[in-house]
Amino acid sequence: MIIQPRVRGFICLTSHPEGTAQHVKQQIDYVKSKGKIENGPKKVLVIGASTGFGLASRITAAFGSDAATIGVFFEKPAAPGKPGTAGWYNTAAFEKEASAAELYAKSINGDAFSDEIKKQTIDLIKEDLGQVDLVVYSLASPRRTHPKTGVAHASVLKPIGQTFTDKTVDFHSGVVSDISIQPVESEEDIHNTVAVMGGEDWKFWIAQLKEAGVLADGVKTVAYSYIGPELTYPIYRNGTIGRAKDDLEGTVPVLNDLLQDIGGISYVSVNKALVTQSSSAIPVVPLYISLLYKVMKEKGIHEGTIEQMQRLFADRLYANREIPLDEKGRIRVDDLEMREDVQAEVAKLWEQITTENLEQISDIAGYRNDFFNLFGFNFDAVDYDKDTQEVVNIPSIK
Ligand code: NAD
Ligand code: NA
Repeated sequence: MIIQPRVRGFICLTSHPEGTAQHVKQQIDYVKSKGKIENGPKKVLVIGASTGFGLASRITAAFGSDAATIGVFFEKPAAPGKPGTAGWYNTAAFEKEASAAELYAKSINGDAFSDEIKKQTIDLIKEDLGQVDLVVYSLASPRRTHPKTGVAHASVLKPIGQTFTDKTVDFHSGVVSDISIQPVESEEDIHNTVAVMGGEDWKFWIAQLKEAGVLADGVKTVAYSYIGPELTYPIYRNGTIGRAKDDLEGTVPVLNDLLQDIGGISYVSVNKALVTQSSSAIPVVPLYISLLYKVMKEKGIHEGTIEQMQRLFADRLYANREIPLDEKGRIRVDDLEMREDVQAEVAKLWEQITTENLEQISDIAGYRNDFFNLFGFNFDAVDYDKDTQEVVNIPSIK
């Protein structure tokens, strides 16, 4: 099969197995180049392990501190004439690299929100690892079927209270235009978004893992959040998704109570805005990211998902010193994004940005490249006119 990018809106319908393998390899090489993380995690469960921050967390744990990893995700293998998803190929590549490095790695493909997948995961931990000492929670999903009620919740990305109008970019065509997003019409939208992206499922996971006795003494668990600049507040932090993040962050004390008797602790880490499959779906945010990239690259402080997660593990979670937290108890690896000088320059560029100057004053080229990289495209070492492997297996999945 010859695989080329096929883009519809903010998604790419195709993924390239060799390109995604390159992408995974680059991330592994980066982590190795930073040296071993002393006293890092040894047995790690990553929920949402196939793309974005979750994949980068898994790579950091495995190749930064020789951890055995179990990854849970929702991906699709190739079907006749149709490539598999990027997360499927990423995991196939990750497991092969892990195996070559003699690192344990197994994966579970299915709905992480369900009790069934939680049970399968617990059984696998019992069988192979006994217990885990780190649980990374990195799901990003537009929907969740509630395991107790059976209700299918769909999240929405909307402002609350008033219509939000600002600039946005179609990053394929490079057209900058105004977009108006209507506010939620009912509490129901907020409730649904919190049900999907809030903290309840994280709590269900930790409660069930603990109940089964598969959490080691002193276990750590971390989930990821975002704050961002004031200009995206109406659509992000003060919108429906922000309510879900408030709920996720509010789950930390609940989990700390739950884990107290085994000396465990939970954290939320606020990460930098980056190009992932999830963030490209949010209006306004891609334009902000392309200006942010421009400013941060000029200052020499740009990071991608792997740099962020390597820093989170090495300088925060496993730095062997008290972890610095903000006034709300959160870890901040968005510190460089939120630096005053960075934000001031982004805000200035935001005022000026138009379709005409987009290529000059923003890093839209970097945005696009990162977007295509997510699906295994734009890698020099790959010949995209050549046939690729028809079937790519994830070694641990039968
Ligand atoms: P992503 O889309 O790259 O990854 C999502 C992961 O969740 C994938 O592994 C996917 O397979 C898995 N998943 C989705 N639904 C599932 C289901 N039902 N069952 C099992 N697995 C499922 O997203 P990301 O951007 O890495 O986001 C991860 C977390 O980081 C989210 O909480 C997000 O809000 C947060 N975050 C993202 C950014 C950003 O800019 N991208 C910034 C800060 C924080
Ligand atoms: Na992820």
